[in-house]
Amino acid sequence: KGKSRSVYVCEDCGYSDGQWWGTCRQCEKVGTMKRFTTEDVERKLSGTEVSEKVVRAWLPTEVVAPSPVKLTDVYDRINVLDWRIPLPGPFGAEVGRVLGGGLVPGSLVLVGGDPGVGKSTLLLQIADLIALRNGIDDPARVIYVSGEESVEQIGTRADRLNIGNEDIYLHSSTDIEDILEQAQRLSPKAIVIDSIQTVYLNGVTGNAGGDSQVKECTSALLRFAKRTNIPILLIGHVTKTGDIAGPRVLEHIVDVVLYMEGEKLSSHRLLRSVKNRFGSTDELGIFKMSQAGLQGVSNPSEMYLSEQHSVSDYLAGLAVTVIMDGSRAFLIEVQALCVAGSSFMRHVNGIQASKADMIISVIIKQVGLKLQENGIFLNVVSGMNLTETAGDLAIAAAICSSFLEFPIPNGIAFIAEVGLAGELRLVPQLEKRVITLAKLGYKKCVIPKLAEKSFSGTELHGMEILGCDNLKEMINAVF
Ligand code: TYD
Ligand code: MG
Repeated sequence: KGKSRSVYVCEDCGYSDGQWWGTCRQCEKVGTMKRFTTEDVERKLSGTEVSEKVVRAWLPTEVVAPSPVKLTDVYDRINVLDWRIPLPGPFGAEVGRVLGGGLVPGSLVLVGGDPGVGKSTLLLQIADLIALRNGIDDPARVIYVSGEESVEQIGTRADRLNIGNEDIYLHSSTDIEDILEQAQRLSPKAIVIDSIQTVYLNGVTGNAGGDSQVKECTSALLRFAKRTNIPILLIGHVTKTGDIAGPRVLEHIVDVVLYMEGEKLSSHRLLRSVKNRFGSTDELGIFKMSQAGLQGVSNPSEMYLSEQHSVSDYLAGLAVTVIMDGSRAFLIEVQALCVAGSSFMRHVNGIQASKADMIISVIIKQVGLKLQENGIFLNVVSGMNLTETAGDLAIAAAICSSFLEFPIPNGIAFIAEVGLAGELRLVPQLEKRVITLAKLGYKKCVIPKLAEKSFSGTELHGMEILGCDNLKEMINAVF
């Protein structure tokens, strides 16, 4: 019998080390490193009181080397692979499109988003769609597991959403083994888990929500989904840094990653695919929030039309741009306030002070607005940081709008870097940004003149491209 090896594992972040250092060398916390032996781990695994099946489902699988198969047999498999759980109706159409044409059996789908954006609502509504019998006698059960809320709380939400589906089962649990055992008993058509940060797996170190728990739980769920062919929809909270559950590693484990986004002032919600093993990642699902839940928006241009009476339309000093986070495009709003007579007062929030100074100086020098006699306040809505040069033009437009007391009409966005001569410069991923705006129903987009031609053949859903050489031209075109 070999000598048992010890290893020190950080309870907080899961970092492991052969030696004890007093503090964790990864997260630098004190007193979190605990000693484990290989025997400890084995004891934990054998002591679990769960069915053989469940244990097998979450234990690591041995890799089976593939052997040659007949081509014609592969055709049958493809047909099976292509089948998707249909999601009917306008709401289902938006969700289905982002998923790449419906929910793929056996897939693990991660839905991320800020707390309060509407993830639990979205997933409960999806559960309801999957559990629709559609005249088929077979019960299409869906189990909705929550580690965040009691079944009564979920019930209250379901009641508000008018969901009375007899095939939805609610389960309040945080123990992955228990969840998978219960799930297996019901043999559901899909499983929803709200959220990955609240579940834990016995035998894995660290607290629920910590790096190693999140990673191991997700891997266990993936194995379960593949083995049983039951799709699992996982909710994940986005942390302040914009990642789901801290580690990006989660995105590599799952099949599909969707993000739910919403602007603070708007009642619209977007569902965007960032990763999809079964379809494209350029799709966007658009929803309108209501008392009775999310409704699919099939014609996005209605979205801005219907909001034309909101107060912000009449306020000067607001301008919209699109920033990228990896492959994700975000709309953000820049606010500017110019106050005559309080010069030297400058406050910027979410924008680098040096960048703000540069843009203000360029407007003074190249456009001729007398900003030097004004106190200027700049803010990026929703607390985001606007570090990309692509936002320069929106900053300039917001300042000009406030100074001239001219509200920028609804449905216009700005994407360009501003140079020292006031010229508009190209930015990376311009096409992706422009297409996002078009899909959202924006009416006009100001971009550098140089790039205008490249959009001649692109489907922009009626959005007009305004190519401008410099800030003056932009002002003439918009104001
Ligand atoms: P919730 O689904 O709980 O968000 P998350 O799970 O992402 O934290 O929704 C947040 C709040 O918004 C909740 O109080 C319900 C409300 N809400 C609506 O009233 N209508 C809607 O269409 C949505 C999506 C949410
Ligand atoms: Mg929730």
